Amino acid sequence: MVNQYITANKDRFLTELFDLLRIPSVSADSRHKGDVRKAAEYVAQKLKEAGADKVELMETKGHPIVFGEKISDPQKPTVLVYGHYDVQPPDPLNLWTSPPFEPTVKDGKIYARGACDDKGQVYMHIKAFEIMMKQNLLSCNIKFMIEGEEEVGSEHLGEFVKENKSKLKADVILISDTSLISLDQPSITAGLRGLSYMEVEVTGPNRDLHSGVYGGAVANPVNVLCEMIASMHDEDGRITIPGFYENVAELLPAERKAINNAPFDQNEYNRELGIDEAQGEKGYTTLERTGIRPTLDVNGIWGGYTGEGAKTVLPAKGHAKISMRLVPNQNPQQITDLFTKHFISIAPKSVKIKVIAHHGGEPAVTPTDSKAFKSASKAFEEVWGKTPIPTRDGGSIPIVALFKKELGLDTVLMGFGLDTDALHSPNEHYGIKNFLIGIETIVAFYKHFGKNGV
Ligand code: BES
Ligand code: MN
Ligand code: MN
Repeated sequence: MVNQYITANKDRFLTELFDLLRIPSVSADSRHKGDVRKAAEYVAQKLKEAGADKVELMETKGHPIVFGEKISDPQKPTVLVYGHYDVQPPDPLNLWTSPPFEPTVKDGKIYARGACDDKGQVYMHIKAFEIMMKQNLLSCNIKFMIEGEEEVGSEHLGEFVKENKSKLKADVILISDTSLISLDQPSITAGLRGLSYMEVEVTGPNRDLHSGVYGGAVANPVNVLCEMIASMHDEDGRITIPGFYENVAELLPAERKAINNAPFDQNEYNRELGIDEAQGEKGYTTLERTGIRPTLDVNGIWGGYTGEGAKTVLPAKGHAKISMRLVPNQNPQQITDLFTKHFISIAPKSVKIKVIAHHGGEPAVTPTDSKAFKSASKAFEEVWGKTPIPTRDGGSIPIVALFKKELGLDTVLMGFGLDTDALHSPNEHYGIKNFLIGIETIVAFYKHFGKNGV
């Protein structure tokens, strides 16, 4: 029945999703403020049409949060669906093979910014809800909370959650904003990394200088910055900031084995990325390096002359943006402090240092023995014919830890994207198959979670 409904309505589902994808809701760019609101209004409208009550845009100091709910029976369990309608900036534009805000289907995949992260995945939930309403399948109460600032660090969400605890009262959080292993091997994310995001500025002389007249005698802040960054990893790929690993939870051999039992082909991984060899912390596999180990990466670095041709200049300043992915039980604030202290301590006297902390977020591990996790597992078994494997994803969704802290709620991370969907990159895409089977799996989740004793 569910299947038939999806097949019969597939074209409309896609047309509606495409309309959402056409709205350039780039939360980082203030020029798109109006578009971000438009996307929120569109999501609210579609929730209403699907049958949600109390649909409203809840204002924050930043972008609005879309709320809606369907409480059919207070005795039934309540699921709070979280997602985000904002997207990353589309740059670099010239590398897109079709315009980022003009959804284009190629080889069964929808190409558009936000196709997978997270508009496509949010839309699966709205359509799953529509199906349950239309077919009288609603076995749970549902609340939706779809925000517009996830890609910029969910700055105002913490306050919103604290102020709306009763409105958000639920039994579990359900999020589709992560990846699966593959369409052949389903998985449920059971852990996410945390984040500390830093920006540094290294200042040398009081102005840009002629690199011939002064070069060799005055510290070049870009050279210095590169050396400082390089020194933050040792030859084993470990981070050299004192105390950085202090609280890192070391996994038991059996837990590591379970992670490495997931199907993974290192050669295929390398081939798909166009690299000859992977690299990282010694003694760990790729799945461990992205799942359970912390990292430090330069996200951007600039300074001096980067225009056309050659300009001989010794720049006055060098800059970098650096992210650290964190794992249990690292604390983002503590890591931010350790980084700041260390970065200042390793600077030579010839330069001045400024360190700015951007957003951060705590890592999260979700239980795999809860009724909600088991319901998700059953849903996959039923729809995919395979038992999903729990995985640890490398990305971050800081709100997961916050939900636990503020609402006492666990989260089920039932994502349907693929790591190769080019999230945050040019040519982001989302498989139509993933979208459709995701809807079916979500409906199946509710069926199981609404039952007694899963
Ligand atoms: N959906 C992603 C996170 C993600 C992607 C988790 C793939 C697992 C697998 C989310 O939108 C995101 O991009 N988060 C940011 C963090 C945020 C604080 C800006 C990230 O991970 O960089
Ligand atoms: Mn996302
Ligand atoms: Mn994202």
